Amino acid sequence: MIDFMLNGQPRHCEAPPDTSVLELLRETLGQTGTKEGCASGDCGACTVAIGEAGPDGRVHYHSANACITPAHQLQGRHLVTVEGLAQGEALHPAQAAMVACHASQCGFCTPGIVMSLFTLHEAQHASVTTPAPLTPQRLEAALGGNLCRCTGYRPIREAALTMADYPEQRPDWLDLAVDATASEQTPATDSAFVQPTTLAALVEERRHHPEAPIVAGATDLWLDVTQRLARFERLVDVTRVAELNAIEEATLEDGREGWWIGGAVTYSRLEPLLAEHYPTFAHLLHRLGSAQVRNRGTLGGNIANASPIGDTPPVLLALGSLLWLAGPSREGAGKAERELPLDDFFLDYKKTALNQDKEHAGEVIRALFLPRPDPDRHLRVWKLSKRREDDISALLGAFSWRLEAGVLREVRLAFGGMAAIPKRAVAAEAALEGQPPTVANFQAARAALRQDFQPMSDVRGSAHYRELSAANLLERLRLAIAKSETPSSPEVMLHAYAH
Ligand SMILES: Cc1cc2nc3c(=O)[nH]c(=O)nc-3n(C[C@H](O)[C@H](O)[C@H](O)COP(=O)(O)OP(=O)(O)OC[C@H]3O[C@@H](n4cnc5c(N)ncnc54)[C@H](O)[C@@H]3O)c2cc1C
Ligand code: FES
Ligand code: FES
Repeated sequence: MIDFMLNGQPRHCEAPPDTSVLELLRETLGQTGTKEGCASGDCGACTVAIGEAGPDGRVHYHSANACITPAHQLQGRHLVTVEGLAQGEALHPAQAAMVACHASQCGFCTPGIVMSLFTLHEAQHASVTTPAPLTPQRLEAALGGNLCRCTGYRPIREAALTMADYPEQRPDWLDLAVDATASEQTPATDSAFVQPTTLAALVEERRHHPEAPIVAGATDLWLDVTQRLARFERLVDVTRVAELNAIEEATLEDGREGWWIGGAVTYSRLEPLLAEHYPTFAHLLHRLGSAQVRNRGTLGGNIANASPIGDTPPVLLALGSLLWLAGPSREGAGKAERELPLDDFFLDYKKTALNQDKEHAGEVIRALFLPRPDPDRHLRVWKLSKRREDDISALLGAFSWRLEAGVLREVRLAFGGMAAIPKRAVAAEAALEGQPPTVANFQAARAALRQDFQPMSDVRGSAHYRELSAANLLERLRLAIAKSETPSSPEVMLHAYAH
């Protein structure tokens, strides 16, 4: 049973564990305003808003792709769809602006666009201080996950920029405390969509059902349902596990300071920490998926999914991150935990150290260690993709190094898209370690890339394109180092780079 609110009304629904929010809406509840376009999180036609109580006790809404959001994750949450916005004849400002700007033609994308604008409008409303101005960058970030095939984006953008000028028509029920009408308690243990709230309960579930897939934001896993027609009889949701949602400062035994970031922390929650400490990494997040994907996708999911073109693993490899894994203990009750350098995590295509053997059956990513930035250690990240918004990498290079007395030290060069796994270029690193950043040394590093990688050809790029681009990124790195050595030249600001 799923207990949640839909547009201000309590709902109680039964659904198999692999039902999406979109299926629940359209097929069970007859709410067909939310459209299905791609069923893979790409087009945004199915965008809805999901509200949950924040630490301030207020309900905060984020946009999500209903087609790849598990319906059971609505438990205790407030779902808002396009049907809920107008009050009688009075349109919500997002709708009124879309009408006035002629921002809809066939209308198929329109409900999704209205819902993305609605969450943006809500973010302005929820702001305790003076809301940040709606800059073109903020609008583009909010709308980057919504495709329109016939209107063209200029009128849609115009609607977004002017919606604040329309009379506020905000349904009162938006502020209803979610818990007052729908219970947040963990569903019955016999549910096939298991939602533990503690690590101990998660580990017990893993002991008894190590084969049941884990789901976090579902932005990867749910494509198995919608694109590959997989059926899941039992799923374990990690999004409510307190330990996996924590971000904690920590000092490792080797003295390194940093943060343990819970495996279920979403990109949207991670962004402020990165913006403060790793602007380069934060900039990359702006190029990772769309707002809908970043609101739900997690760091743990990106790592466990082990895609060779996942964006965060190369950056985390370059930073020397560690994983904190937890699973059922083999000796009996309780859990077994271990720390593993990320360097040792990716074994082969989509094969990781998780569940690697019997001893580690049922393991999960509890957290990831992000070292505190060191002013002497530099980081550059360049992502190459065909589109700027909402596109997976063809290639990603993440490079970190120190420059001591004109010599490169602790060089870590990691790439995505160059091998079956996200991987460091150890031969190229060796060519630069302890050397000055000269043209000749970088030439040697570029040549060494051939020992490190034999990339494949696919729809995103040929093997030749990848080899050439990886070498070019190293040359770009050399130029960036040379430029930052010259006091008069400004730092290269375009850290995440896409075209
Ligand atoms: C439209 C779209 C655009 C995207 N763009 C990008 C992009 O630009 N760059 C990019 O890197 N990715 C992109 N992705 C992929 C995806 O969003 C990320 O990989 C995301 O981080 C996955 O996290 P999740 O929480 O949604 O994982 P899920 O889909 O819930 O899970 C993914 C896998 O990880 C496992 N898993 C999840 N959490 C844990 C855990 N704590 N412990 C052990 N196993 C776990 C699951 O069992 C599953 O096998 C995109 C996806 C979509 C749909
Ligand atoms: S239907 Fe395209 S994102 Fe959901
Ligand atoms: S109005 Fe037709 S797809 Fe946008």
